Amino acid sequence: MDSQTTNIFAARMNELYALIERHAGLYYEQDSPEIPDSEYDALVRELAELEREHPEFSRRDFLTHRVGGKPSELFAKVRHEVPMLSLDNVFDAEELVNFFTRIDTGGSGFVCEMKIDGLAVSLVYEDGVFVRGATRGDGQVGEDVTENLRVIEAVPKKLKNPPAGRVEVRGEVLMSRERFEAVNRQCEEQGLKTFANPRNAASGTLRQKDSSITAQRGLDIFLYYLVDAERFGIRDQYNALLWLKSHGLPVQEVWKYCANMKEVQNFIDHWRDERHTLNYTTDGVVIKLDALTQWGKIGATSHAPRWAVAYKYPPEEARTKLLDVKISVGRTGILTPVAVLEPVRLAGTQVQRATLHNADDIARKDIRIGDFVMVRKAAEIIPEIVSVDLSARTGQEVPYTMPEKCPACGSEVVRLPGEAALRCPNRASCPAQLAEGLRYFASREGMDIKGIGRVLAEKLISSGMAHRLSDIYALTPEDWMKLDKIAEKSAENMIAQLEESKSRPLVNLITALGIQYVGKNTAGLLVNHFGSLDAMMNASQEDIAAVDGIGEVIADSVHEFFSNDENKKLIEDFRTLGFRMSEDISENRGPLWGKSFVFTGGLASMTRTEAGKRVKALGGRVMTSVSSKTDYVVLGEKAGAKLKKAEELGIRILSEHEFLEMLNSNDLP
Ligand code: IVH
Repeated sequence: MDSQTTNIFAARMNELYALIERHAGLYYEQDSPEIPDSEYDALVRELAELEREHPEFSRRDFLTHRVGGKPSELFAKVRHEVPMLSLDNVFDAEELVNFFTRIDTGGSGFVCEMKIDGLAVSLVYEDGVFVRGATRGDGQVGEDVTENLRVIEAVPKKLKNPPAGRVEVRGEVLMSRERFEAVNRQCEEQGLKTFANPRNAASGTLRQKDSSITAQRGLDIFLYYLVDAERFGIRDQYNALLWLKSHGLPVQEVWKYCANMKEVQNFIDHWRDERHTLNYTTDGVVIKLDALTQWGKIGATSHAPRWAVAYKYPPEEARTKLLDVKISVGRTGILTPVAVLEPVRLAGTQVQRATLHNADDIARKDIRIGDFVMVRKAAEIIPEIVSVDLSARTGQEVPYTMPEKCPACGSEVVRLPGEAALRCPNRASCPAQLAEGLRYFASREGMDIKGIGRVLAEKLISSGMAHRLSDIYALTPEDWMKLDKIAEKSAENMIAQLEESKSRPLVNLITALGIQYVGKNTAGLLVNHFGSLDAMMNASQEDIAAVDGIGEVIADSVHEFFSNDENKKLIEDFRTLGFRMSEDISENRGPLWGKSFVFTGGLASMTRTEAGKRVKALGGRVMTSVSSKTDYVVLGEKAGAKLKKAEELGIRILSEHEFLEMLNSNDLP
């Protein structure tokens, strides 16, 4: 081989080292990947092949020869007594069979488990009591996330049939699809960055400095590994899983003993599509040799055991043609480009639309109409375009430029400073904004009026029958019949539904108004604090910003909304129509009424969520930060800066024991 060819390999390997280092950092340390896992896996594979062929250019100490990322400085470090290894990946049936023919299986069968897309943790129990939890970190040293694990309901604080001494179990912390969607909705509402997928959301949530955030977001856990299982007389993985379960440790439902490779292959084939029905995301199957006695004999490489392997399903990406780009105008006027695709099957569904985020995104990926593109289902919810197949370009592709006018109303679009998005400024009469606003008003979170979806909302606006949200309450059954070509009975049903919606809780109405940044959670905070629409309308920006959980930006938005004359008229309409305008927030005048609590550090006897519920049940309030309005600070283990602040302000500090006494005693404050 001449030196020039060799240099090409060396250069590519160097390039791969740099790329992998960058993307591993984004994935493991910042929970914010820029490329799909499958692309990352492909880079690692390409590097591994080159390393095999050109060991002379290989960097022995490179991260692909180790495990995961560096532990974060935010947490105390924990050294794993038994290293936490990763797994080797295989991508097809042949590689899988090769993996196991290389080793001595000793005639053992296999256990197949779903490969959960979360993050690995280790839990330690002493005499059945949870004492320590850690992330994997680099496999040798992880992060101490005990307090954050303690607030996860699914993590048992005490084991059933408590085994004596020290027990270490390992598994995966994850966020269910449901929670993931809710958390992202909430992030959006609060103007925060959303998570790319449930794995990032789980990792970002577990590695929080403030465990109350971890508690609120609701994580889950599945255990799959009992360290030193033989100590308990266990001889195979099958019984190790049963052991975990029998001690109250959650184990995923989907796993199976397979006597041979044929059965393993059947399991893999069966779950290829079926896994999309699970409530958590998985990206493959982990195949483990069942017999523990073989594990020790076969051993491990520096970063993965030889007795187990991960079969990764092919990426949920597909190649298709970009036919067109359409603009959709949202409730707040933001113009979102939407890709119109040649229909293609992806992760169990037919895809023909994908989001393009914004103009910067289109430019960055150099997406042109007519291009062949790779489409991915991010978190299996909204498909997006990952990249363009540049090699398929013919020269006929047309670059896309964002319109200067709103496609719905013709207004000149604006780009607000600091925003990537373009906006139609015509809030009062842009039909697209009005229709979206109406659809949102009627949505489940809002007034919950079934049947008013996108299509009907557009008809209501374009027919001129509705302009303001309140207009739909003035329509007669005849109007509805005309509008939607529906039978009299359905029209009457619509009227009945509208009537019923008037008595929904105030929080629904506040949500339904579609105030920027105010989703159901924020609406709840406003209602709990102010109690009535009038109080909210009379509040100053400062009053609103002082509500626990609401910041300046939201306060500005709320205040501006209620200061607007059009909006004031709208509220008057709702009042006249007989909507609920207030809630009795003084209802719970329990023994802790008027008292506010702040928790710092983890509690030993219950999670902070549970403690919060107990306080609220007695009429008290729970706040996240200490201020002069705080009555009590409850001190858990590892109390942080809040304690100092409480001392400075002279606020009464309760130990966990004192707090429990307060909850239980009759002699309440
Ligand atoms: S066993 C020593 N089982 O995948 C072997 N791992 O890519 C320990 N994972 O580090 C791993 N589901 O974080 C095992 N059912 C499962 C798994 C699983 C997900 C993760 C785990 C591991 C990573 C390797």
